[in-house]
Amino acid sequence: MSTLFFVNDQQVEAGPDETQMPLLWFLREKLQLTGSKFGCGIGQCGACTVHLDGAAVRSCLLPVGKLQGSRIRTIEGLAQGTRLHPVQQAWLDLDVPQCGYCQAGQIMTAVSLLERIRQPTEQQICDNMTNICRCGAYTRIHKAIRQVAD
Ligand code: FES
Repeated sequence: MSTLFFVNDQQVEAGPDETQMPLLWFLREKLQLTGSKFGCGIGQCGACTVHLDGAAVRSCLLPVGKLQGSRIRTIEGLAQGTRLHPVQQAWLDLDVPQCGYCQAGQIMTAVSLLERIRQPTEQQICDNMTNICRCGAYTRIHKAIRQVAD
């Protein structure tokens, strides 16, 4: 049986032979949405983070067969036309990325946090921002989140 769900407000269909495919690969290879990255493949690093019905999830662990009727948002779905999402803008303003590889996942986790908690405390930022950055850009990541929250 096929699985129908939405990616950035467009309906998509995964075939019966794709039910076990991790969402990350469905996004990257079938939909050519390559902003979400593969890091570890075991749910640890967060490079693959997308939103599932608004919650930040690690798409490398999510089989598309479980997504019937779900709404997925990826980094490609954040901007409104040419207008960046405020979190993306803060990332640019504060020059957050170093190598940049993990940053789509970082931004998706930050957006989900700020949608749930408008003005998170430093502790809430630390508790929620569990994505790994090998360049160690954590100070700038937290600063950008605080800039959007203020
Ligand atoms: Fe999914 Fe690392 S690639 S958590």
